[in-house]
Amino acid sequence: MSYSRISGTGSYLPEKVLTNQYMEQIVDTSDAWIRERTGIEERRMAAEGETTSDLAVNAALKALEAAGLQASDIDMVVVGTTTPDKVFPSTACIVQDKLGMRPGTIAFDLAAVCSGFMYGLSVADKFIRSGSVRRALVIGAETLTRLINWKDRGTCIIFGDGAGAVVLESSDEPGVYATHLHADGGHVELLHTPWGPSQGYENLIDDAGKAVMRGNEVFKVAVRRLGQAVEEVLESSGFTQSDVDWLIPHQANIRIIQATAKKLELPMDQVVVTVQKHGNTSAASVPLALDEAVRDGRVQRGQLLLLEAFGGGFTWGSALIRY
Ligand code: UT7
Repeated sequence: MSYSRISGTGSYLPEKVLTNQYMEQIVDTSDAWIRERTGIEERRMAAEGETTSDLAVNAALKALEAAGLQASDIDMVVVGTTTPDKVFPSTACIVQDKLGMRPGTIAFDLAAVCSGFMYGLSVADKFIRSGSVRRALVIGAETLTRLINWKDRGTCIIFGDGAGAVVLESSDEPGVYATHLHADGGHVELLHTPWGPSQGYENLIDDAGKAVMRGNEVFKVAVRRLGQAVEEVLESSGFTQSDVDWLIPHQANIRIIQATAKKLELPMDQVVVTVQKHGNTSAASVPLALDEAVRDGRVQRGQLLLLEAFGGGFTWGSALIRY
């Protein structure tokens, strides 16, 4: 039996910090409201000219270093992103070149919004298990602030920029036990950009290319679907809640994270929470949280990790991993 296992993690946050106090200056909000309703204290913003591939490369280099590998050792790079550098080619192709990976290796983006990393992890796991590739880089990278309407207090306080990456390698030992992916395209208008390139640039009016969200409705679906996702991944791999060492959730809102932890009957000191530091970084949020907990020593080799994410689409997914 062949598995894939995480041999290295890395992450990167742009330097520029947007505090809640800054948000108070640009929209009708308050530090107290943002903390109470979301748990967010600050978010990051990519510098002018800094693109998603730059963030992705920074995170990937750290993951490669942690794994003791060079970019030339990698057979495949998958980038989960909703904010690509260009419409085409894929950000993954740009990352492949910037990293100096071997020409001819596989590179593609995955558009699953906030679940992009979970989708990428699942796909890369299957490539490795089938023997198609030995080593893959799975990256979640976003410059979500580029899609923000800075007059909309329902979205501008939430999203931020960042990147996280893992190196997945073929292994005889687990590894990734199970991944589960889902989507329901029936609620597109709850979280989307009203405009996209196929509508024609001549029809791009005002803020139609920016993100809009009916937050409260998204919140309710997220809590329900994530509750199902964590139960499903445990059940399918034969583990129970009490086996889980760490929940590494999508960092969208502290109240959603708390609801999922409650569903798992897991105390919050077994939940990795980073949302206060960078807000919702979409596809980057799960690998960012994982990397932080690995580097500060909370997550140890041999521990059982439950990862989950939910996002626009709707898309959602979960993974159970022996680290
Ligand atoms: O990552 C992918 C998926 N995304 C998510 O998971 C995000 C899910 N949604 C959320 O995190 C929350 O719904 C929000 C944080 C976006 C909003 O929190 P909420 O508790 O659901 O607030 P709400 O939308 O029900 O609004 C409650 C009130 C409203 O005022 P009224 O109508 O009661 O007078 C809003 O206008 O809060 C108001 N409000 C704000 N007040 C101060 C909305 N945004 C803000 C704000 N500051 N930034």
